[in-house]
Amino acid sequence: MNPTTYTPLPESITALSPEQMRIRIIEAKRKLGSEVVLLGHHYQADEVICHADATGDSFKLAQHAAAQKDARYVVFCGVHFMAESADILTDEDQSVILPDMGAGCSMADMAEIDDVEDAWEILEEMGVDEIIPITYMNSTAAIKDFVGRRGGIVCTSGNAVKVLEWAFARGKRAFFLPDQHLARNTGHAMGIPLDAMPLWSPYATQGGASIEDYRRSRIILWQGHCSVHMKFTADHVRRLRAAHPEIRILAHPECSFDVVQAADEVGSTEYIRRVIRESPPGSEWAIGTEYHLVHRLAQDYPDRSIVSLSGIQCACSTMYRIDPSNLLWVLENLVEGRVVNRIRVPDDIAEGAMLALERMLALKGDGAVVKKQVAQC
Ligand code: 13P
Ligand code: SF4
Repeated sequence: MNPTTYTPLPESITALSPEQMRIRIIEAKRKLGSEVVLLGHHYQADEVICHADATGDSFKLAQHAAAQKDARYVVFCGVHFMAESADILTDEDQSVILPDMGAGCSMADMAEIDDVEDAWEILEEMGVDEIIPITYMNSTAAIKDFVGRRGGIVCTSGNAVKVLEWAFARGKRAFFLPDQHLARNTGHAMGIPLDAMPLWSPYATQGGASIEDYRRSRIILWQGHCSVHMKFTADHVRRLRAAHPEIRILAHPECSFDVVQAADEVGSTEYIRRVIRESPPGSEWAIGTEYHLVHRLAQDYPDRSIVSLSGIQCACSTMYRIDPSNLLWVLENLVEGRVVNRIRVPDDIAEGAMLALERMLALKGDGAVVKKQVAQC
């Protein structure tokens, strides 16, 4: 977040009731017509997502952003890295707007460009060759640029298997940023032994593993994680299964290896929605992902039993920064002809990042699954 761009909301907005805000958002959108498109990630709260023109996981939202050729404004109800990617994928005369500039992602912040450049250099000095860099969508534009300029690619939780296959067709190993869990879970599902996936810690001398480990590696895992998904444990799975023998466990691949191994199905937020939509009435589900999505699924499918895998509400506090008040504020500014909270990736960074994003989009995603690739382990 750039603190200099943060503007407190006027009282004329903050004093409104939820219903007044809802009506004014609808009115502002009506006035803007086809000039504005509102994209919403599945983790957004109900009172925001109800205004979205399109919803999705990171992959689907990137596709939506790339497809917007007519709208002058893309209002992104999600987090900063998603809005950056949308800016890169839209044309120069289109503005991407993030209603709250503080809506970041702690995982994306775990891979800083200087640390990644240092790691790359050290790996080269160690003689670790033929590395294809991959970055999870949850990373800054600077990391995507780094990856794109070195022949690498972006992935999402919806296409990690395909992206790793793409990388292995071009090199001996992948350097996967910043989510160690998505990388480990996907690598394991593809049959890669755990000891061929050493961690790279930016805080340890020379990454923390031995030179031999890195030379033997198939995937080098950056030591990043999502603190929301770390709250789910294999113990939650055991307890739920003991109490509800019929329950099915559905987890996001940002969950730890133990949780993913204990789950029945694993995939992106779009995949999670699809599994529930296609499930029979009466089925029982525990879902290991962000609270707002789980809560919405439970509301939308009252004839299924849907609970969070954890007893507590695991919410993403940064996704939740987008709320009706800042959404209304950016929309009413647009009505007045003012673009506020524009996300702009500098051209020199956008260039490499675009290469990495385009390589991913060319592969197409399928809302993919990590678990179904597992050869019953
Ligand atoms: P999806 O791409 O599966 O929606 O995941 C994005 C994310 O940030 C999950 O924490
Ligand atoms: Fe980032 Fe985790 Fe929030 Fe997803 S849930 S946006 S990975 S902090």
